[in-house]
Amino acid sequence: MDKKITIQDIIAMKKNGEKISMLTAYDASFAGLIDAAGIDMVLVGDSLGMVLLGLNSTVPVTMEEMLHHCRAASRGVKRALLVGDMPFMSYQVSESEAIANAGRFLKEAGCDAVKLEGGSEMCGIVRAIATAGISVMGHIGLTPQTASQLGGYKVQGRDADSARRLLQAARDLESAGAFAIVLECIPAQLSEAISKAVSIPTIGIGAGNHCDGQVLVTHDMVGMFEKFTPSFVKQYVNLAPQIREAVAAYHEEVKNGSFPDEEHSFNMQLDVQSLLDQ
Ligand code: KIV
Repeated sequence: MDKKITIQDIIAMKKNGEKISMLTAYDASFAGLIDAAGIDMVLVGDSLGMVLLGLNSTVPVTMEEMLHHCRAASRGVKRALLVGDMPFMSYQVSESEAIANAGRFLKEAGCDAVKLEGGSEMCGIVRAIATAGISVMGHIGLTPQTASQLGGYKVQGRDADSARRLLQAARDLESAGAFAIVLECIPAQLSEAISKAVSIPTIGIGAGNHCDGQVLVTHDMVGMFEKFTPSFVKQYVNLAPQIREAVAAYHEEVKNGSFPDEEHSFNMQLDVQSLLDQ
């Protein structure tokens, strides 16, 4: 087995000009597949609220749900750095609550680091968690937990003022001790500027090709979430129709009695009638 990836390895990748790969996983089987394919970081994102739990947003996702899925994903990950996403209202109330909740991702769920959403206004919390010895990833641009304040799921940082605010937020997060920052749904030119301005890695999603790394929601890139697919997602395979086809074939074979056949049954030397007659 390759050695486990550390925070220092992720930071060194930026220094060495090596792009960083990250995908989401919410259970042991997907995490295992992703880990075995060599992905550098696995994110147990609160996107699980939408892609697994059928919610309309990430807002209702709870700490207990996140910890449950982080524990499962951690059983599948051997090499990648495992990041747990702090759900809405698990880190905003107070520094002490944020530290306690962040600690649960490491102590109870096998994560290596946590991620939380927010810019300069969240730096006190980031500093408190990092000072407590927990590695924190920032997340700016489109922050889905507060999408309603941003006017919906929209590209951020398009005008000069908000671009400057996001650049400042990235600098503040670095000063506060974040080890990396997710840049979601911002113009490629702005993510290029941010990636040049900070020495910690930027991980883009819908943020162009100049970030130090990329993250996607796995269910989007393998075609397993059909409610909507953001335009920045590249679908590498379209599994949903294949799964539907396989399930329909199974249904048909159960109905017409052709499954299970000989090959998929256990057999023994027994006269059925004599057993019934006993
Ligand atoms: O919850 C999530 O999956 C995320 C990624 C989109 C970065 O935050």
